[in-house]
Amino acid sequence: MAKNAALILAAGKGTRMCSDKPKVLQNLLGEPMLTWVQAALAPVFGEDIWMVVGHRAEMVEAAFPHARFVRQTEQLGTGHALLQALPALTEAGCDRVLVVNGDTPLLTEDVVRDFMGRAGQADLAFASITLSDAGAYGRVVRQGGEVHGIVEAKDYDTALHGPVTGEVNAGMYLLSLSLAQTLLPCLSNENRSGEYYITDLVGLAVARGLTVRGIDCGSDESLMGVNAPQELAHMEERLQARTVAALLSSGVMLHAPAQIRISPLSVIEPGAELTGPCEIYGRSFVARGASIASHCVVRDCHIAAGAQIRSFCHLEGAQVGEGALVGPFARLRPGAELAEDAHVGNFVELKKARLGRGAKANHLSYLGDATIGEGANIGAGTITCNYDGKHKYQTAIGPRAFIGSNTALVAPVRVGEGALVGAGSVITRDVPDNEMAVARGRQKNLPRRG
Ligand code: UD1
Ligand code: CA
Repeated sequence: MAKNAALILAAGKGTRMCSDKPKVLQNLLGEPMLTWVQAALAPVFGEDIWMVVGHRAEMVEAAFPHARFVRQTEQLGTGHALLQALPALTEAGCDRVLVVNGDTPLLTEDVVRDFMGRAGQADLAFASITLSDAGAYGRVVRQGGEVHGIVEAKDYDTALHGPVTGEVNAGMYLLSLSLAQTLLPCLSNENRSGEYYITDLVGLAVARGLTVRGIDCGSDESLMGVNAPQELAHMEERLQARTVAALLSSGVMLHAPAQIRISPLSVIEPGAELTGPCEIYGRSFVARGASIASHCVVRDCHIAAGAQIRSFCHLEGAQVGEGALVGPFARLRPGAELAEDAHVGNFVELKKARLGRGAKANHLSYLGDATIGEGANIGAGTITCNYDGKHKYQTAIGPRAFIGSNTALVAPVRVGEGALVGAGSVITRDVPDNEMAVARGRQKNLPRRG
């Protein structure tokens, strides 16, 4: 059976984005654009996906540590980009390659499969869409319904090529490697951009009598390209709307859905409840019966059934157990872990800290590099002093311990099970189980002067 591979063209600069970042790394719903292209291709091609990178290649490579790359050191055009990939594709034993522009973040697996199915065994197939305004897209030229070629907008001449029809090249192609090997060296850069266009392969293949198919994909927005900030904003909104619609139809409860931004990589179970505006990014998981109130930002978190995240919380890399309560105004940083029914209240920050079952830190605290036992109570203003300017140290607080308000726990330090720390203490030595520690200046009451 013929082996297919996918090639994402991602070496361009994206001049119209006016950004230092390569265009393909611009962010949509919390991920670089390329993530969405890759996600559409992965179910079809598995590991056999290559990316052509060039402009700030190291940045793109660093963002996708597991991907396969081909370098295009000079960006001499999309045809030249494909040429750079031929040795790698040949070595991998590929027979055909699906080439897709890296700036099409709305691409879906279904669109890819449909295109490949309709392309059949053609020597060369490309996807076309029909727009009311052909804009800067390459225009498809047909004669008697048959594809004759693709002419780039800059090179289009109505006297020569006929009236513009609105059928444009979407930037997705399926071709045999042998065709690429034969025709790529024939490309010329004698055009308005001085580039080697992949689109010229179409005319060359037609001239040689090969089977060329222009697959009309209607006006499917999934194939539209991002070239400027307006298009990026528009595409991000479309991706957001698509994700939210899918969640609603799966049974997730969404209030103000237009204001909820959810990464398609996140999993929200039916029966979860989210209120906009809020943002959920990365590979987050929100279980059935959990709720997230408005103005929260959540990234790469696991939120278990029945947990409630109240308004204005910021959570990243955190795990929130069943029935736990968070916020309003709480911050959970990477490594924060709340066991069942734990409570974290306003202006409490956790980092690499585990709060045991039913433990509470309800007000104004910093808990970093700490383990806090079941049922412990952390008073308002408790601070784990975990950093001495060079190293980080652990604080351990036993089950059912009670830490009085405004306590500084100078790590490394351990407060035993059932121990009590008096308010305002600076604890520098371990407190044994069930003992009480008070470490503060004694109050003196003196006669008032004057
Ligand atoms: C391209 C097509 C155009 C089509 C449109 C669809 C060509 C010549 N034109 O135009 O017919 O209608 O896409 O969106 O292909 N790239 C490289 N190396 C390069 C140049 C570009 O890898 O030397 C990559 C870019 O990073 C980008 C993709 O190729 O992801 C397309 O390049 P872009 O400059 O956006 O092409 P368009 O002008 O949009
Ligand atoms: Ca483009």
